[in-house]
Amino acid sequence: LTAGIEGRIALNLQSAQHDFGTGASSATFGINNSYLGPVLRVKQGQVLPFDVMNSIGDVTTIHWHGLHIPGDVDGGPHQEIEDGATWSPDVPIVQGASMNWFHSHMHGKTAQQTYTGLAGVLLIEDEGSLAADLPKTYGVDDFTLVLQDKMFDASGRMSYSLTGDTIEEGFQGDTLVVNGAIAPVAQDVPTGLVRLRLLNACNARFLELSMATGPITVIASDGGFLSSPVEVESIVMSPGERYEILVDMAAVESNALTVNLNGGDVGFFASLFGGNQSTVALHLNRTAQAGFTGAMPNRLAVLEPPKRSEATVTRSFQLDMDLGADLTALALAWDNVCGDAGAMAINGQPMKMDRIDEKVTKGTTEIWRITADEQQHPFHVHGCSFRILQQEGGAAPAYAQGWKDMVHVGEGWSEILVRFDHAAPADAPFMYHCHILEHEDCGMMGQFTVT
Ligand code: C2O
Ligand code: CU
Ligand code: CU
Repeated sequence: LTAGIEGRIALNLQSAQHDFGTGASSATFGINNSYLGPVLRVKQGQVLPFDVMNSIGDVTTIHWHGLHIPGDVDGGPHQEIEDGATWSPDVPIVQGASMNWFHSHMHGKTAQQTYTGLAGVLLIEDEGSLAADLPKTYGVDDFTLVLQDKMFDASGRMSYSLTGDTIEEGFQGDTLVVNGAIAPVAQDVPTGLVRLRLLNACNARFLELSMATGPITVIASDGGFLSSPVEVESIVMSPGERYEILVDMAAVESNALTVNLNGGDVGFFASLFGGNQSTVALHLNRTAQAGFTGAMPNRLAVLEPPKRSEATVTRSFQLDMDLGADLTALALAWDNVCGDAGAMAINGQPMKMDRIDEKVTKGTTEIWRITADEQQHPFHVHGCSFRILQQEGGAAPAYAQGWKDMVHVGEGWSEILVRFDHAAPADAPFMYHCHILEHEDCGMMGQFTVT
């Protein structure tokens, strides 16, 4: 981590076989692995010289979700890597401690490729986080968890298929997998505080997370530490979101991270459509060994409240589900539900690779106001972190008031305050989109330049 990087960092995107624990081997994609990629742990100030080698048998891209980097190394849909080719971006890490990830962003195939396994985690540490009095012994009291829902056929093979309805809701599986395994067990967890770094890498499911015993204490969101820990019974994570939490293993011999798969459907809709569907994501079995012996921290970071007055421009985005296209016909082309077909849109326009939708001036702060219909959409912006200002139903939950690059939009409008410091020219623009990957592939995405 701190020793510096010698040589280039090889990420080998490959077709593979992987057993999720169903007893059958599934056809997957992996990155240096049979499924998913490695957890990359890097430090602020490093430049990461990647060699991303594609041998999956199809064209793809790899996008660094959450990184504050220029558009030409962002890995969006314009930076295609042909099968057999290598993409070699030098990715500068300028931002502070945060949990980021990387995944396929191949236009029209993001859903299928990410589901099949083209995703991984990139953890950034900085001087402050390395010195902080927090659990940070990787794999001992500090776990990185990639949460995904899967569908398996009768023989235990991972499956993915779409109908018009599942395009509308996004593809949802009935089985939760964590780091490519069903309900894994963390053995020999020490006593004291344990840190879980969580990524919702589902295509479409909102997940409601809680512990079998005790509360969750949230310490960080997508873009870094909260100002102070937020203790809650549960958190709701949309696809694409990251949270870091602390759980106290001092008083219990075992515990479990539990997930309500219907976390997005609150109240009335939950009771109407199946209600709670709880499942164990991770079992934690404790030893008597002492681990992190520190106390729950009081302060984590200095985070000023967002200042609306810094914004010089306000833009509005309306997420549209239904342009009257035939979703059932699109479902038949599920591995390439390209936006040009125009099923879904933002401000009435389905994503088009050759159209720039917004032009932002570098170094400026803007308010983006995003509105949607009754369905929840996790809205994401490339090349920045932002703060949630306000939502129609009231303030965002306290744990979502720090640095974010995702916002749940759905019960009316949401406003975010965002500063753009990284350049994105017209041939390498940034994206903003719904992170329900089937919606994104269907055109609920737009492009912007920063110049
Ligand atoms: Cu995680 Cu544009 O995506
Ligand atoms: Cu992104
Ligand atoms: Cu959506």
